[in-house]
Amino acid sequence: MSTQKKSGPEAFKKVTTLTLAELKHSGVRISMLTAYDYTFARLVDSAGVDVILVGDSASNVMAGHETTLPITLDQMIYHASSVVRGVNRALVVVDLPFGSYQGNPKEALNSSIRIMKESGGHAVKLEGGIEVASTVARIVQSGIPVMGHLGLTPQSIYQFGTYAVRAKEELEATRLLEDALALQEAGCFALVLEKIPAALAAKVTASLRIPTIGIGAGGDVDGQVLVLHDMLGMNTEFNPRFLRRYAQLGTLIPEAIRQYVSDVRDQKFPNDQERY
Ligand code: KIV
Repeated sequence: MSTQKKSGPEAFKKVTTLTLAELKHSGVRISMLTAYDYTFARLVDSAGVDVILVGDSASNVMAGHETTLPITLDQMIYHASSVVRGVNRALVVVDLPFGSYQGNPKEALNSSIRIMKESGGHAVKLEGGIEVASTVARIVQSGIPVMGHLGLTPQSIYQFGTYAVRAKEELEATRLLEDALALQEAGCFALVLEKIPAALAAKVTASLRIPTIGIGAGGDVDGQVLVLHDMLGMNTEFNPRFLRRYAQLGTLIPEAIRQYVSDVRDQKFPNDQERY
């Protein structure tokens, strides 16, 4: 397969953080999906997705870990650089992995700089609210766009103890809105809102100048994000209410492979046309 990028008449206007602000203000919803490798990134980008997230969900989806905690900065950079090579139009946002930014703003800045220089990604994402606001400000002051992430933040799973819906109680909902405003003030260009009540997501969205991207946060947000392998139906054991499957690759792929195995055994592959 060629690794040539599109140019000339096939090239289109690249998505930037500014584009996302314009989409929010014009009321056009933003589409975002994850990708972790070159081949899928090409497919996702060519289908017109606005933002590609190189999520630390790579830890689950690509590496088979139970949580997002084990993935390293080097591994995120490997995934992100593969994705960047497949993208022409989308904005590529890369997750700062657990342990690469929580220590202090300087550590977070160094990790972000490594991502930007070594992968060619366009922005970073980190989890947390007011407690990471000074970190966000430090990264943004250095010219690196930052996306925030509130609600269910999987890097804190051992603190939550569960993947249940967050901020159902008034106190936590109030705190989440304060966190969102603090992240906006710190310079975030957008926020992911994960698994929170739809009414709260709508309130946060209406309170912010910057776009919100929901996952399990209802429809009154500025955009939606899903994990690519989940929306393609590749993981049949994961069935949260918010997940819509747009394909059934978890069935289709094994069917194709079973057919191949059978053809090899029965000497139906290769045939006379498939040889030199
Ligand atoms: O890592 C990831 O895939 C994410 C999305 C679920 C938003 O953070």
